[in-house]
Amino acid sequence: LNPLEFSATVTNWQRQYGRNDLPWQINITPYRVLVSELMLQQTQVATVIPYFERWLQHFPTIEDLATASEDAVMAQWQGLGYYSRARNLHKAARYVVDEFAGQLPDNVDELREVPGVGPYTAGAISAFAFNKPAAIVDGNVKRLFSRYFGIEGEISSAKTNKTIWSLAEQYTPVTDSRRYAQALLDLGATVCTPRAPSCQECPLQESCNAYATDRVQILPTKKMK
Ligand code: ADE
Repeated sequence: LNPLEFSATVTNWQRQYGRNDLPWQINITPYRVLVSELMLQQTQVATVIPYFERWLQHFPTIEDLATASEDAVMAQWQGLGYYSRARNLHKAARYVVDEFAGQLPDNVDELREVPGVGPYTAGAISAFAFNKPAAIVDGNVKRLFSRYFGIEGEISSAKTNKTIWSLAEQYTPVTDSRRYAQALLDLGATVCTPRAPSCQECPLQESCNAYATDRVQILPTKKMK
């Protein structure tokens, strides 16, 4: 499919079959998106939800988080793991309050200045918080694209990463950015799953390279360890 057909197909699928009632999808604010994206970086949605709700109770605004003590921040993160994310989130809040008067910027370049905001998170904040076009590539999107486009390179290699980011940029639509980003994450998490993908349920089945060449089980290529 060409980029317009691709984005229309996945956004239509998302409207019907995607996740549309996650806590960070209602009452959308840049701060809520920042918190959820940092929590979701290495943790499953179901685990994140109660932590996310408690976090917002304790630190309702980015100013509340910026002025909280390190101990209070770590106490709210306790149990989520990968604790550098909590320290980064605290730093991010301070940075946004000090440098951007408490307002998260709406463009990827300025977002990248914020501590803990890498290329994925910057795109996610642009799309989810501001509904502005931005490529987003996480593990789910890498798997989906490597199958859909039949990309054979080892998935964690720099070369494959570049190839996938470049495709992600080409395929990002100019409208409906939020739904398109959610569509890619939902497809990757619920249909184009690592071990037993549900190709019969996939809106991209007919044009998927891996499906057509019977390589769904072997793509993406993982490093031999
Ligand atoms: N993982 C990262 N961002 C997400 C989102 N908005 N919804 C579901 N899973 C996610």
